[in-house]
Amino acid sequence: LPGCLVLSGGDPVSEEFSASLAQALRAPKASVHRKVFPDGESYVRLPEDATGSSRVCVVKSLAPPQDKSLVELLLILDALKEKGVSRVEAIVPYLAYSRQDREFLANEAVSVRAVLRAIRHAGAESLYTVEIHKEESLSFFEGRAVSVSPYEAMAEAIEVPDGDTVVIAPDRGALGRAVRLARALGLPYDYLVKHRDRVTGEVFFEPKSLNVRGYNVIIVDDIISTGGTVAKASSILLSQGARSVTVVVAHALLVGDAWRKLVSAGVRRVYAANTVAPASGNPKIIDVAPAVASALGATA
Ligand code: R5P
Repeated sequence: LPGCLVLSGGDPVSEEFSASLAQALRAPKASVHRKVFPDGESYVRLPEDATGSSRVCVVKSLAPPQDKSLVELLLILDALKEKGVSRVEAIVPYLAYSRQDREFLANEAVSVRAVLRAIRHAGAESLYTVEIHKEESLSFFEGRAVSVSPYEAMAEAIEVPDGDTVVIAPDRGALGRAVRLARALGLPYDYLVKHRDRVTGEVFFEPKSLNVRGYNVIIVDDIISTGGTVAKASSILLSQGARSVTVVVAHALLVGDAWRKLVSAGVRRVYAANTVAPASGNPKIIDVAPAVASALGATA
């Protein structure tokens, strides 16, 4: 990209993502210096290359610890604005808080709106993320906002099992994801019907019989957090006669005993994009930074 410096937010996920992005863009890369004060406050310092650039692509995943990652991103954006960098783009491979995209219960904060407004006001002219929970949330960002689909790039790295195979979304909201992955793999798709108790957070599935007997299933979702959704979906599909279950997910947070749940539910293999560092388990990580580079290049 003309005159673009890729600036890593300095944490391990952002470092790796920005290295791949810079390579794909054939752009120089630099990293912010970060530290934490004894009382827990964050500190960042820009490298000199950033203050002399006209265009900076800041790469900062809002991976856990989400709040600290967000504060660091805001500090970086504000510092760049103060230094007079005229064009600042925020590349946020994982946009935390995207699931709280409306008031599910009265008077709840719409977290994704607050986060997107803060990123904009801190100085990002545009925002690129990977697989936001709901595309509509991007309208909370008053500027160019793009959610890059990782599934086409992931499809190239996935080992599709031999035999009949179908892509299944664990809920209707993820159907678009199943369609994209299925098209890229040339496979059929379907979806389950999931509900979540908004107070306890527990998920349950409506009875729905799919024709999966003898099929290998690829479950696709945007996020695995506790693993509850994918584990239950896997158990249901295997009980309906599926031959095997593989999982493809954009953001594998895998908190707590999520990995153990997936293994106990019969999941054979998990593929994840390189947008967060999984807290447990051993998913196969696929680099999707080149897909973000293409999106950036296309809108340059
Ligand atoms: C919810 O609608 C999301 O798309 C994911 O299905 C959900 O966040 C996964 O969370 P967990 O792994 O805790 O079930």
